[in-house]
Formats: sequence, C-alpha cells, structure tokens
Amino acid sequence: MKDTASLAKTLYIKTYGCQMNAYDSSRMADVMAPLGYTQVAEPEGADMVILNTCHIREKAAEKVYSELGRLRKLKAARDGDVIVAVAGCVAQAEGEEIARRAPVVDMVFGPQNYHRLPEMLAKLGRDGGPVLDTDFPVEDKFDALPKANANGAPTAFLTVQEGCDKFCTFCVVPYTRGAEFSRPVAQIMTEARGLVESGVREITLLGQNVNAFHGDDAGGKPCGLGRLIGQLADITGLERIRYTTSHPRDMDDELIEAHGRVEKLMPYLHLPVQSGSDKILKAMNRQHTGDEYRALVARIRAARNDLALSSDFIVGFPGETDADFDATMTLIKDINYAQAYSFKYSPRPGTPGADMENQIPDEVKSDRLARLQALLNAQAAAFHGAMVDRELDVLFEKPGRHKGQLTGRSPYLQPVHVDAPTALLGQIARVKIKAVQANSLGGELLRAADREVA
Ligand code: SAH
Ligand code: SF4
Ligand code: F3S
Repeated sequence: MKDTASLAKTLYIKTYGCQMNAYDSSRMADVMAPLGYTQVAEPEGADMVILNTCHIREKAAEKVYSELGRLRKLKAARDGDVIVAVAGCVAQAEGEEIARRAPVVDMVFGPQNYHRLPEMLAKLGRDGGPVLDTDFPVEDKFDALPKANANGAPTAFLTVQEGCDKFCTFCVVPYTRGAEFSRPVAQIMTEARGLVESGVREITLLGQNVNAFHGDDAGGKPCGLGRLIGQLADITGLERIRYTTSHPRDMDDELIEAHGRVEKLMPYLHLPVQSGSDKILKAMNRQHTGDEYRALVARIRAARNDLALSSDFIVGFPGETDADFDATMTLIKDINYAQAYSFKYSPRPGTPGADMENQIPDEVKSDRLARLQALLNAQAAAFHGAMVDRELDVLFEKPGRHKGQLTGRSPYLQPVHVDAPTALLGQIARVKIKAVQANSLGGELLRAADREVA
C-alpha cells in the first residue's frame, strides 16, 4: 500500500479578499502539512492549487473564473496531473455553479469546511464529478485544526470570531460566512500562547465583526473583546495586539476602556463608517448615524489620545445624491483619517441593495470615488508627514529592499525602512523617523525599546 504521508508534494494557495481568508489559507497549509504537502510560491509544478476566493464585490468574484481559465491550460499541459480546488466565499456562494461551469475544478469547499481537506482528498475521483463541501457543519472546525504555525514570522493573525448577523444591505458576508460565532476564550489563549512560543510578537485578532466577540470564558460566561484583549496582554513575549474589523455598534465601554488601559493594544483602529449621510446609513442598515459615529470616535480618542483611525467607504450606494456624498466628505474632514479603503458600490446578487431603485450610474460613482480618494490621500499624506522627527517603536518583520536594511511596522502599521542588524528581526526597537515616502517611512535606529523583549 502507498504511504501517502511520506510522499513529498507541493501546494500552491492563492488568497483573495480579507485577512480572514489569509488566516484560513495558512490554516489550510497547516491541515495539508501532515499529508506531505509543502507550500510553494508559484502554481507551475505544484501538485495541488487552492484558490481561496472573495465574493465581496463583482470584480473580486470574477477573478476566480479568469484564474480558472489559466489553470485549465496549466492542467492540460500536465495531462491533468494537478488537483484544483476552489475555497472561500465564492465557493460558499456559488459552489454548484463553479462545479458545473468549470470542469477543471476537482474540489469546492467553503470557509467552514477546510478542516475536512484530508477526507475530501480521499474522495477524489471516486464518483467522477468534483468533491463539493459547502454545508455549514455542526462541528467546530477550530477543534479539528492542527496547531497554528506562523512559519517563523513575528506577526500573526488569529481568528476569534466568524460570520455576521448585521445584514448591511450591500454585503454578502452574512450569506457566505453564516451566523456570528465566537471561539471559546481558552481555545484562543492556547493558540495565542503557541504563536508567541514560536516567536510571534504581534497578534491581530480577526473577525468579520470582531468586536461582536462574546466567546465563553472558563466559567461558561460570555467574555467581550475588551476583556479578551486584557487577558492576551498578560502573555509574556506578546508585545502588540490589534483587532479588525470592528463595527461602530459593537464598540462597548469595556473595549473603549481597553484602548486607554492596555499598552500593548496598538493605537490604531479600523472602524468602517461607509457613508456620512444618515439617509444612506439607514438604507445600508448600519444602525447608527453620522453624529453617533463622531461621538464614538471622540470617546475612543479620549481614552487614547494618540489613536489613529482607518475606515472603509462605499460611494454610489442606491439613492446617494450629491448632498449625501457631500455629507460623507464632511465626515471625513471631521474625523481626519490616517488611512482608508474606498470602493464603488457593487450590487451583489441576493443582497437587498441589488434590488433597490435609484442605482447610481458608473460615471457618477467614478467621479465621487476620485474626489473621495483625493481627500483621503491628502489626509494620509499629512498623517505620514507628521511622523518626521518623531521616535516610534518599530517591530522588524523582514529584510529590507537594500543590503543592511530591515523593514518593520510602526504602531500605526506604517512600513518603516531602517539600517539595522539582522539580529533585530522579530524585535521591537526605537527608531527616529527621518523621511516619508508615498506609503512608507525611513528612519534611524536609536535603541531597543525600553519595554522588555522576551
Ligand atoms: N465587517 C466589516 C466589512 C467587511 S467587508 C464592516 O462591517 O465594516 C469590507 C468592506 O468592503 C466593507 O467595509 C465595505 O466598505 C466594502 N464592501 C462590502 N460590500 C460591498 C459592496 N457590495 N460594494 C462595494 N463595497 C463593498
Ligand atoms: Fe458585512 Fe460588515 Fe455589515 Fe456584517 S457588519 S453585513 S460583514 S459590512
Ligand atoms: Fe471577501 Fe469573504 Fe472576506 S467575501 S472580504 S473573503 S469574508
């Protein structure tokens, strides 16, 4: 009998979409490792290719089919000797259609099913057609997953919450990722401690709606994100904590207080607002007004005065008038963002927004997006510019572009390039910022941060 575990094979994973998909991709690699699969950086020559897909906007979903076209040629050139799998949110939303439309595909599975990869592999070729697994399983995939592996990196993602019950009228996530679910605190602590033991210094807690986190504590009582962050901060060797993506409605007092109290919680918060118009916010079902968002930001800034903010914006939601758009521009000016992502509204099948009247023409969306991005880019440039001559703690993550250089991240997630010895990789050091490039900073090494580095 063939011992499959001992055969060296290669796996290529292409990840689209959000950080939760990035986390899932690394966990898929963890599941495949005991079967003899090592990850490679190119699809050519790989024994298995997984596309971990995103369904959030039309363009994101379309990429899957064009990539499958390329893989069809690659597979034909290798006489069919490569396993092609489609995972992630497009698989969850359109699994059967993919299986029908793209015969190159051997396997289709959703974000809740990848712990079953070994069983799916064993089923391959048994009944002719592709193996399809997109049911929401009753078991907890996290219980079945092997130990998380950060592959020596000093930063890691850790999913603590999945799914969403908010049903914003533009969004597919409640359909592709299902109902809100929080992992138990003990399970998260074990994963975090394991990551820190392997050299991780910074953990970003992930969830589609991460601050809705309410995992069971040891006594079986729900624990909020603020309390979880407090517990994680007690792990020696863990130096930085971040979380994303949060919803303004779920910023509770305990979490706001954690921003003031927990030094390891970085002063940088992604808090999407989408629009500054109360009419559009209501139509989007965001469940808050522009002024409520302003008041919330003021409270969080009062808890941590060096907090920098980032956000997501959608322009051209159905019914958005010039006045509604102007209200968004005003809100941006009021808040002053360090960074932001902005998108043209993309009607998604099955969401209420797609059936609304007054869809906005593409030229109007493009014009508004350009104006919005000009303002956001100017704010980001001012934010980066203000860093010159400041001293920042930098966590060094990788070798820099030039010899003798390392690249790390500031507390505000800015890439910082510094001449520094390789020994500082995975460590935090104090850096004096000297220069600002488009999307990064340059600085001079001062000394290892006063804080103890384990
Ligand atoms: N859970 C997060 C958002 C997840 S989706 C939140 O509540 O804010 C990431 C971003 O994609 C959203 O914030 C939104 O700005 C954008 N997005 C989602 N659906 C979209 C759509 N149909 N068209 C355009 N942008 C969209
Ligand atoms: Fe989508 Fe976020 Fe709204 Fe949930 S809260 S429906 S993930 S935009
Ligand atoms: Fe995309 Fe799914 Fe994330 S739709 S944004 S990959 S949750």
